[in-house]
Amino acid sequence: MSDTHIYRVQPDWKREASIDNETYLSWYERSISDPDGFWGEHGKRLDWFKPYTKVKNASFEGDVSIKWFEDGELNVSYNCIDRHLEKRGNQVAIIWEGDDPSSHRKITYRELHEQVSRYANVLKAQGAKKGDRITIYMPMIVETAYAMLACTRIGAVHSVVFGGFSPDALAGRIVDCQSEIIITADEGLRGGRKVPLKVNTDKAIDIAARQSMSVRKVLVVRHTGGAVDWVPGRDLWLNDEAKAASPDCPAEPMNAEDPLFILYTSGSTGKPKGVLHTTGGYLVHVSLSHQHIFDYHDGDIYWCTADVGWVTGHSYILYGPLANGATTLMFEGVPNYPDNSRFWQVVDKHKVNIFYTAPTAIRALMGAGDEWVKKSKRTSLRILGSVGEPINPEAWEWYYNVVGEGRCPVIDTWWQTENGGILIAPMPGATDLKPGSATRPFFGVVPKLIDNDGNVIEGEGSGNLCIAQPWPGMMRTVHGDHARFIETYFSQYPGNYFTGDGCRRDADGYYWITGRVDDVLNVSGHRMGTAEIESALVAHEKVSEAAVVGYPHDVKGQGIYCYVTLNEGETGDDALRKELVAHVRKEIGPIAAPDKIQFAPALPKTRSAKIMRRILRKIAEDDFSSLGDTSTLADPSVVDDLIANRQNRH
Ligand code: PRX
Repeated sequence: MSDTHIYRVQPDWKREASIDNETYLSWYERSISDPDGFWGEHGKRLDWFKPYTKVKNASFEGDVSIKWFEDGELNVSYNCIDRHLEKRGNQVAIIWEGDDPSSHRKITYRELHEQVSRYANVLKAQGAKKGDRITIYMPMIVETAYAMLACTRIGAVHSVVFGGFSPDALAGRIVDCQSEIIITADEGLRGGRKVPLKVNTDKAIDIAARQSMSVRKVLVVRHTGGAVDWVPGRDLWLNDEAKAASPDCPAEPMNAEDPLFILYTSGSTGKPKGVLHTTGGYLVHVSLSHQHIFDYHDGDIYWCTADVGWVTGHSYILYGPLANGATTLMFEGVPNYPDNSRFWQVVDKHKVNIFYTAPTAIRALMGAGDEWVKKSKRTSLRILGSVGEPINPEAWEWYYNVVGEGRCPVIDTWWQTENGGILIAPMPGATDLKPGSATRPFFGVVPKLIDNDGNVIEGEGSGNLCIAQPWPGMMRTVHGDHARFIETYFSQYPGNYFTGDGCRRDADGYYWITGRVDDVLNVSGHRMGTAEIESALVAHEKVSEAAVVGYPHDVKGQGIYCYVTLNEGETGDDALRKELVAHVRKEIGPIAAPDKIQFAPALPKTRSAKIMRRILRKIAEDDFSSLGDTSTLADPSVVDDLIANRQNRH
């Protein structure tokens, strides 16, 4: 192998039925050369009400139509619950660990079945039907899992909105998918602080009403017991309704291509897009990948620390693990509450075997010091996963050596909301590891590197990461806007799905993701469009123009750097900086709060008035050596002023 830091597969990383290297290579080869045969076989891991006779009918050309298992019928909640009842009725399906370390719950598959059926009957009683969109704005509690699974049980399409989003952001998503029912909670709890979910929901409904969208029902889970406003007739306590509902609700047979969920995500332009996933191919992809990438075996305790408001929570807290009959842990809290040893305390408390988290958490805990880790035993740990952003080799090594004490493979998984499930990652018993590389493609995934001029890079080299062939778990469209789907993902490199990421392939065929090449930021693993933050800023009465770029940040991966031009007569001072940060928090949510704001009398523009972001990025990065050609700027002196007043001076 070419690179110096290689961790070979250790003999005890291979267990019975683990995929070894030969199996990986032969399965991978078949998945590419004979997708119908490969996926036709692996699709059988699910229970189908009506078996499929067709497997793949998908193309990246022309109108981009993606169908898998198109004549099969199944139900997601049936596959995640009912089919396990006979063998595992009394096995714990979900371990819930509360924000407060003294609170936890264990829900068996049988209990999950009963609660999900009750929730499904409540939804039906409120008029929800197959195909209806239902918005879920919830904290990390088991009731959120009940709500999502209940939607799938009756064929309703859920749109989960992360609890950290503001009323405005929530309203935009409610309006976009025309969701008449919202499921929420009185309040969430994170790190000892309350999150006013019902208050935010009430505000969002008012905002949506101004856009002629009327929300009929709000189903509220009583969680903290905090006081809430109530609209009689519209608002219902979901706990009470569920208790009164029947525990019997047959799962609705769904076509494999019926919509399963919508999840909004940011792109380089415009408003967040409603990424639409469908039923059959998605579930095959997430269950197969969960089993082999995490080398999941019966009886393992599996914990993914993501929030269910993101795709990682959908695919690898709920759907993948539950389809495999796993015990999955849901954590309400944060890594540093009550103190920095919380993750490892939870690992010991519940004997977690497989642990999956984000580099931003790893870096923050690494910064807090090894002593917090060493307070725990962590002897149950077998696999350590990473997701959401590039993991720097230092953080990888710390995760491997300090958290895992050199015993557990670090499984760096690269994928995106649009992908449904993991696309590039090692397998514990098969893949030698290189810190910082997501290593090799999952079954059915054909990565392709293409340079800016459209030339395909073969062998070693760097380029824009595309995927050359359709895979079962991929998104099918942008909800309500298929043209945007084609434009966003298939117009740059026709015939290929463009990921928006840059990537290097080394001499061993390993992939190294270098980060986004478009105007998308990744802040603490949260994906954000610079355009969204810019439009929030210019919505402020004192702002005339704004340009937002990312800059390297030790813990967050990227920080948010905003260049702001004020209206005539306004003065940029610290008070206004604070006001603008508060304004962005209100418009989008706390995750989008700017880290740096630089007031700029003017922004660097070409003569055709296009902002030269490349220059702004370099200044934000404190790198003036390679500003490139500034002669095409309408006023090159703007750049000197920006450098002189930059916010990153040390
Ligand atoms: O830039 C890549 C980064 O996160 C983006 C996708 O974000 P999102 O849709 O929110 O999904 C995150 C969780 C699946 C990608 O375009 N990203 C995600 N995982 C990795 C990563 N970058 C490098 N390495 C990863 N393992």
